[in-house]
Amino acid sequence: MVTRVLHVSDLHFGAGDDEAIERGAPVLIERFAPELVIASGDLSHRGREDQLVRASRFLHGLDRPVLAIPGNHDIPYTFPARFTRSFQEFERQWETTEPTYSSPTLHVIGLNSVRPWRHQSGGVRTAQLERAEERLRDAAPGAFQIVVLHHHMIGAPWRSRKKPVARRNHVLASLVAAGADLVVAGHIHQAAVSERREFEISHGAERGVVVSIAPGLGQPRPKRQGEARGVHIYEVEESCLRIQTYVWRDTDWGLTAERQFPRGREPLERETV
Ligand SMILES: [Fe+2]
Ligand SMILES: [Fe+2]
Repeated sequence: MVTRVLHVSDLHFGAGDDEAIERGAPVLIERFAPELVIASGDLSHRGREDQLVRASRFLHGLDRPVLAIPGNHDIPYTFPARFTRSFQEFERQWETTEPTYSSPTLHVIGLNSVRPWRHQSGGVRTAQLERAEERLRDAAPGAFQIVVLHHHMIGAPWRSRKKPVARRNHVLASLVAAGADLVVAGHIHQAAVSERREFEISHGAERGVVVSIAPGLGQPRPKRQGEARGVHIYEVEESCLRIQTYVWRDTDWGLTAERQFPRGREPLERETV
């Protein structure tokens, strides 16, 4: 059995090209019938009420369960609202900045990595991390565990000055120890995917964990270089996770990458070597 999840990020509603998103995303819902849609922040461009309302209407209109978290663009752009009402409008649309989605097959937790006093860089406080560890431990036995945050855990393949989430090694190690199978984010507007044993020394007994950054779906500035537009589709099977990267090409989606990772401790099985 395959469980599918659609991961969209950085929609930037209000930046001027929402139409492609509104046309493109429903096609993916119809094609893949995902159990869940994950929206990993920067739903709006300037954190304005009308932009957040439009983004939320659009996501809820996809007719699937949606787990959304805020990005650094989803808080008021101006002072003092940026500090006094940071997540007020987001919470009005989504109730919480740290949602949980739980089913027999999936256990997904959102983490709010936005720090209102810093425009670009993100972090997760110790108390948030401890709470996340507890929330991960609540999963149904055998459920595939996904952690969603806005700020990236691994670097951008193309140029970017954006820094990964603060205390990245500590945050990632804590989430992995608590049972995360997949850690997803956005923010850099570029796709990046890596399996834990591709960057951590393997002693042979580690459980597979994948870190995945979806490309941005919106385009904040026309012709901004180094920014693809696309989405990730996760296909979770009993022994493997497949990640497909689809990019938007003016009128339709193109599949540009398909990567497969083993779940559990064993390497991928291949029929022939
Ligand atoms: Fe963004
Ligand atoms: Fe961002």
